Amino acid sequence: MNTLANKNTVLITAGPTREALDPVRYITNHSSGKMGYAIAAAFLEKGYRVILVSGPVEVKLAHPDLTIIPVNSADEMYAACMPYFASAKITVFAAAVADYKPAETVLYKIKKSDAEFDLKMVKNVDIAYQFGLIKRNDQVAVGFALETNNEEQNALKKLYTKNLDLVILNSTQDENATFGFDTNKITIINRDFLFRALPLKSKAEVGKDIADAAIKVSATAKNSTVKTSQLI
Ligand code: CTP
Repeated sequence: MNTLANKNTVLITAGPTREALDPVRYITNHSSGKMGYAIAAAFLEKGYRVILVSGPVEVKLAHPDLTIIPVNSADEMYAACMPYFASAKITVFAAAVADYKPAETVLYKIKKSDAEFDLKMVKNVDIAYQFGLIKRNDQVAVGFALETNNEEQNALKKLYTKNLDLVILNSTQDENATFGFDTNKITIINRDFLFRALPLKSKAEVGKDIADAAIKVSATAKNSTVKTSQLI
């Protein structure tokens, strides 16, 4: 019987992060979480156990093999992933993590006083990069690259810098794709520089395409030190 204990685990980050300025204000982005949740649904359908570390989103998902860990900030998201990464066969970094956070979170509500207000920001932890440093050969990591220009070049840079096995390129130039939409248009790129451009599809369908591609790479990664991902 395929019990939860012997199911393969997939770790997924999804949604935006919120970086607090004070107790009532934060910096965030337009991520809806729909793509990350669709990927989670696709893996659940294929019989995986899914750990979904999610920023604040409206989208809902429930399944006996799904654990959702709600977080706010990038630091919380990183800490929440930590206990699960080593046992995850596949990790998908689908969250739109804020690149910067306020240098300090003020304990009390910031009062308005001067005509101008300067905000100092510092770099957030790069979750995909940090896990890329400790990823084993039998593990597969999938990341996203949301780009406005030099799309393919930037995506490849992310693939190698973050030690990903697949990068999912999203372009803001595509209509009805990316933030908030129920559809997406992606290009899947592997480490052999193979590009698979897919047409505009529902995020549910795109989630399945991403899960299938990751599972194929994972199958070749299982017993070898070299991953051949020809089959994306
Ligand atoms: N990512 C992450 N932690 C961060 C930033 C990004 O885990 N602090 C992950 C995202 O989930 C995504 C990939 O890294 O899978 C690329 O994210 P993106 O925002 O496109 O790239 P950045 O590395 O932030 O680069 P830039 O914003 O300069 O394009």
